Amino acid sequence: MTVKIFDTPEVQDFLNSVAGFDQAGGNERAKRIMHRLLSDLFKLIDDFDVTQEEYWSAVDLLNALGHETQFGLLSPGLGFDHYLDMRQDAIDAEAKRTGGTPRTIEGPLYVAGAPEAEGFARMDDGQDPDGETMWLTGQVRDLDGNPVPGAKVEIWHANSKGGYSFFDKTQSEYNLRRTIVTDGAGRYTARSIVPSGYGVPEGAPTDQVLKALGRHGERPAHIHYFVSAPGHQHLTTQINLAGDPYTYDDFAFATREELVVPAQRIDDPAEIARRELDGPFAEVVFDVELARTDAPELQVRHARPRAKEDEQDRASQLAGTAKV
Ligand code: DHB
Ligand code: FE
Repeated sequence: MTVKIFDTPEVQDFLNSVAGFDQAGGNERAKRIMHRLLSDLFKLIDDFDVTQEEYWSAVDLLNALGHETQFGLLSPGLGFDHYLDMRQDAIDAEAKRTGGTPRTIEGPLYVAGAPEAEGFARMDDGQDPDGETMWLTGQVRDLDGNPVPGAKVEIWHANSKGGYSFFDKTQSEYNLRRTIVTDGAGRYTARSIVPSGYGVPEGAPTDQVLKALGRHGERPAHIHYFVSAPGHQHLTTQINLAGDPYTYDDFAFATREELVVPAQRIDDPAEIARRELDGPFAEVVFDVELARTDAPELQVRHARPRAKEDEQDRASQLAGTAKV
């Protein structure tokens, strides 16, 4: 088919009306963005001769994604989360904010309000029969190498089946989710279990999209972090465990070389006794370097809808920071 109508005055006038350009009300930015989005899609329909069948099956797929609240899952798979990180890195570089532990995507599975502890926390509830004990520890420092005591280290990860508490209703509340405040030497330590990799639910709408692209929906074993301290830039990051088949083949594009960390198996009885454990364990060490900043808005995580986080939490977070 060679029909091309996009550049006709009728279609261009039509787009202006659809985007509300001829209406006084509404939001100017929303109008401009919608106009651009619809223009790009209309042009795509013209250029690819998109059929009625293709269009309506796409509508059906979007309905299914919404029905199963999977847009947050598909977003990293389609690279949006990593693209936003790349843009934020470029924004930081332009503002001469460089150095420190690199950021990488938050993912869709954070839950606010995890129990808080000073220096040390046990993160697992002891109910995972396949859970291999993990000793996760590190130091938070500034870019000059000075320890940062009192930093808030929020950690969350999956269980031995790759499931996250809250979203996986078989797990106890806040299992594998803790906030640890660093000790006087800037250190945090967690006893937990080694996470397994995560895969998007088989056959779900997100999986259908990835399969159509010839891709898989697997992530390597990984551990998420939010790290914050007064006077320092908030960091959203995660570590990917070395040696996982997906360490360098992550469907969510979150792997960065500096964030690949080994889990070292330790069976020396003296080391086991020193940690008061009952057997061999895997040690994961992850030190974090935070850049200093006086700007309050850089000291907190960006706003986005998150499970159990409401506007009030956000307001008090900002207020807490502004005082410093
Ligand atoms: C997804 C899941 C994760 O655990 C994660 O860290 C990132 C993305 C997802 O399902 O899209
Ligand atoms: Fe995750």
